[in-house]
Amino acid sequence: MITVVGMDGGPLSAPAAAALADATCVAGAERHLAAAPVPERARRVAIGSLPGALEEVLAWRGTAVVLASGDPGFFGVVRALRERGARPRVVPAVSSAALAFARIGLPWDDAIVVSAHGRADRGRCVGRALAAALAHPKAAILTAPGGAGPEAFAGELLDAGRDVYVAQRLGTAEEDVARVTAAAGADRDWAHPNVVLSVDPDRAVSPAASWLQGHQGAPDGWALGEADFDHRGSMITKAEVRALALAHLAPRPGRTVWDVGAGSGSVAVECARFGAHAVAFERGPEDCARIRANAARHGVRVRVVEGEAPGTLEGAAGRTGVDAAFFGGGGDDAIEAAVALCRPERIVVALASVDRIKSVRDLLLLHGYEVGGTQLQASRLADLPNGSLRLAATNPVTLIRATARPAPSGGRPPDSGGNRVATS
Ligand SMILES: C[S@@+](CC[C@H](N)C(=O)[O-])C[C@H]1O[C@@H](n2cnc3c(N)ncnc32)[C@H](O)[C@@H]1O
Repeated sequence: MITVVGMDGGPLSAPAAAALADATCVAGAERHLAAAPVPERARRVAIGSLPGALEEVLAWRGTAVVLASGDPGFFGVVRALRERGARPRVVPAVSSAALAFARIGLPWDDAIVVSAHGRADRGRCVGRALAAALAHPKAAILTAPGGAGPEAFAGELLDAGRDVYVAQRLGTAEEDVARVTAAAGADRDWAHPNVVLSVDPDRAVSPAASWLQGHQGAPDGWALGEADFDHRGSMITKAEVRALALAHLAPRPGRTVWDVGAGSGSVAVECARFGAHAVAFERGPEDCARIRANAARHGVRVRVVEGEAPGTLEGAAGRTGVDAAFFGGGGDDAIEAAVALCRPERIVVALASVDRIKSVRDLLLLHGYEVGGTQLQASRLADLPNGSLRLAATNPVTLIRATARPAPSGGRPPDSGGNRVATS
């Protein structure tokens, strides 16, 4: 029998204490073994490498306890045990995410909790956790030492106007919850374990009590009409075209989407409504102000970068990297630059002119993308004065859709510019 006991610094519950008293084998991190009343006679297994320690626990012919932090069923060891066929008894404690929000006195049913731990490469784990936190008003980030600590998150969260807290060693004598107010302040040695909290000060408490924890899923409608955005003349991607573009961009929490030559920013705003971290690139201050206003109108955050692409793309990927990019404006040079800088996994290019269809397709093929395209020519129902209907044609647009070919086994794809900033 394996019992998993969660620890949060509070006194052990009666079932947890009884399980420990009975145990002939106790596994856990050094700090948990030191803090728990492990019986003298019990074999102690310090968890350095999790697979090795679990192997030993699973082979143990007696009563075993695995000590873990917080709620072990929440981003914890229960999953690893079940994956190995065990059916443990679980005695949870309070999760570090719950403790951290409690320490700053905020509800957290409206927060997302993301983990920067992971077996995939560290840069990818940091990138998706950061992207999710940037797009959501309230987040807890479970960090990891070695490149996925507070220093990897605080700067971009502060730039986005978030209040940032680092809750260190919760429930221990060294507990400390620090508010970070400047990126430079985040570049210090933090005590691990810690949780980063990111809170939009204007939305620290969601206006309506929600019934669904965290992110609310797909937005309430998408491929919105042009009237749902302020736009200059017809400088907006039409709803029918946007629908197909969004389908390929696949925006969702943890993904970063660029909208290059964003115009009204309708694509960026819709991506943000799906939970993606959206970045819009536009030339002039007026257009940029309009994009910000459109984002505010829809209650989402879009980072707006003002200036001429491709110059503005340089350095814009930050730590999140770029998962998908939409080009509604800008020339082939902007596409080329984005591919070289951050090799988005998915690309969509909307072309009104027929001249560039071949050059864009060839450019993306040359860079190792699978490329397809569709010309869309929607005709909308419109009323005639006599009460009958006509079909009102919108301008034809060609959508080029490209997907990066998977990397050859274990390696990067050919021509890969390298996406996320290495953090370890
Ligand atoms: C694998 S997750 C386990 C989460 C755990 N199951 C829970 O409910 O808190 C490990 C991460 O949880 C956070 N964590 C765990 N214990 C903590 C503590 N005492 N203080 C602050 N953060 C903690 C850290 O972000 C750490 O890297």
